[in-house]
This record gives sequence, C-alpha cells and structure tokens, in this order.
Amino acid sequence: MIVLGIESTAHTFGSSIIIEKDRKIDILSNEKDVYHSQSGIVPSKLMEHHLETFHNVLMNSLRKADLSIEDIDLVAYSIGPGMGHALRIGAAVSRALRIKHNKPVIGVNHCIAHLEVGRVMTKAKDPILLYVSGANTQVIAYSSGRYRIFGETLDMGVGNLIDSVGRLLGIGFPAGPKIENLAKKGKKLIELPYNVKGMDINLGGLYTFIKENINRYKKEDLAYSLQETLFAMLIEVGERAMAHTGKKELLLGGGVACNKRLQEMARIMVKERNAKLFVPPNELLVDNAAMIGITGLLMYKGGVKPLRPQQITILPYQRTEEVEVVWRGR
Ligand code: ATP
Ligand code: FE2
Repeated sequence: MIVLGIESTAHTFGSSIIIEKDRKIDILSNEKDVYHSQSGIVPSKLMEHHLETFHNVLMNSLRKADLSIEDIDLVAYSIGPGMGHALRIGAAVSRALRIKHNKPVIGVNHCIAHLEVGRVMTKAKDPILLYVSGANTQVIAYSSGRYRIFGETLDMGVGNLIDSVGRLLGIGFPAGPKIENLAKKGKKLIELPYNVKGMDINLGGLYTFIKENINRYKKEDLAYSLQETLFAMLIEVGERAMAHTGKKELLLGGGVACNKRLQEMARIMVKERNAKLFVPPNELLVDNAAMIGITGLLMYKGGVKPLRPQQITILPYQRTEEVEVVWRGR
C-alpha cells in the first residue's frame, strides 16, 4: 500500500510517500518547504508560502519515490490542530485529490502523528510521549482507547519560549539550535522561575524574568540556565506521568526534542526508573509529512473510514483526546 502524507499545520508544507509491504513501513520520500520569518508568523504570508510551494513539494516527493499520482492508494493530511491559513492549503489539496483522482482521504491529528511516527520508527510499544515543539508542549499517553494529555503547558509552548528568548538575545529564528550551542559555553546557573503545577507547566514567568534581567547576565549563562530550568520542568512532568501510568518507555517528539541536553536528561531519568528512552531521527522530530502518512496508514488499516469530499476540512482546535484511537489495541 502506498500513502501520500501532507503536512500543513504551521510553518512547514510537507509531502511524503510511505510504503507498506509485508507489514513493514518505509519512508520513500519526505519533502518540505519551510516558511521563515524573523518577526513571527504572518498568517497571510504563510498562506501565500504554502500556495506557492505545495505543487513543487508534492511533485518532488513523488519524483524521489519514483512514483506518480496514479500509484497512490491513500492520502493522509493534517486536519489539526494548527493555524487555519496553513491547514486550509493541505485540506484543499487533499480534497482536490479526492475529487479529481478519486483517492481515499484520511484526516490526521498532528500531535498524535508526532507520537505514532516515533512508535513505528523506534519500535516503542506503549510509550509516554514527551511532545515538545514550538506551539505545543504535552505529555501524552494511551489509555482506554484514546491518547490522553496527562500534562501540558498552561501558556506558551517550550519552543515558542526558546524562540522568544532568542529574539531578546537577537539571535534569530529558530533559536533552538543556537541556544543549544550558546548553552554549552555557559558556566553560571542563574536561578530562574520554575513553575510546575501538578502535571502542568507554566512558562510566562520565566520569559518575563529573562526579559527584565536580560542585561544583567551573559548570553551564554542565560542560555545554559534556560535549558537546565526548562528541561528539568519537562523531565519532572514526564517522570510523574511514567510513575502514574506505570509505563516503562519514554518517547521524545517535536522540534525541541532535537536538543542533545534534553535527550541526555531524559536518558538519565529513564535509567533511574529502569525504563527505556526512544528518540526518532531529527527529521522525524520536527514537523514533517512522513508522520502524517504513517499515522494515516495506521488509521486506515485500523478501520478508520475515509472522509467524504465535504468532510475534508480543517479542525484548527482539535484536541488530542478528541480522536478515537480505534487502530490500537485490537
Ligand atoms: P507544532 O506545530 O507541533 O507545535 P512547530 O510548528 O513549532 O510544531 P517543530 O518543527 O516541531 O515545529 O519545532 C520547532 C521548534 O523546535 C522551534 O521552536 C525551534 O526553536 C525548536 N528547536 C529546534 N531545534 C532545537 C534544539 N536543538 N534545541 C531546542 N529547540 C529546538
Ligand atoms: Fe509539530
């Protein structure tokens, strides 16, 4: 079976070809074009970006896989959550493929896709997902037919915080990799606001503190202290979720999970709990279309019915637990 995956929840327009043969799943291509802006996302510009790039990205993914549109058995697109201006392009392309080429189409939840791609590619069975990206920060686990959010940020996503601090430091977007490098040179641990509330975290106070004290410290020390504080908060809620559910696997997902220090802290925590850590390769941690294709494939094979043309729309506020996970535990 051959699946075309389409990602368009935010800055990335992605297209990927997935093949499933003898119960083995392979990624034949995973193409993307990313909208860049120094001042944050401007929705109308983002839409223009996706409109201008979608055709090339789609064609490149087919070319790399040495296939044509006729070979596609299923189209999977990100239905939400995300920005309406971006989501609409992926949905429109999928609807056109349904109407013009009569392809079955499945709508995939973007957050669940971050988890499923990790499960499929790392062979983790029933992990807790620590999902840390720009807009989203969630601890997700499977329980009674749904992926449930055990904890999350109460205000901003971890990546957005890192990028906002990057803007204060004048180091450009995305700031994650640059902060990671700066942090390696940091020596002094500055005491920053640490806000864990039960299973949730709160990051506004941390941002305000850095904004108000930006000139008092060296950039390197701020970057180092930011990472140590932020990641300790994430590992704390991740560990609590593992203890609460009794699960023995931790899976990382989202762009911030590319960070080697976060991976190191996660490794130490799981070792102490006698558990296992799973980290997919970077290109599958950041937003990508392969994760949408793979999740669409699991859903289709698990009995999720393709959408009728008028159902191929967008759900910008879809929550992880709204999706009935019929493709697991059968
Ligand atoms: P979502 O829509 O799922 O919220 P997103 O659109 O923000 O995701 P991702 O590609 O998953 O996109 O993540 C991007 C974020 O990851 C950015 O905020 C970026 O700064 C951060 N990031 C990337 N690499 C690193 C790194 N090495 N360390 C820390 N953060 C990183
Ligand atoms: Fe994402």
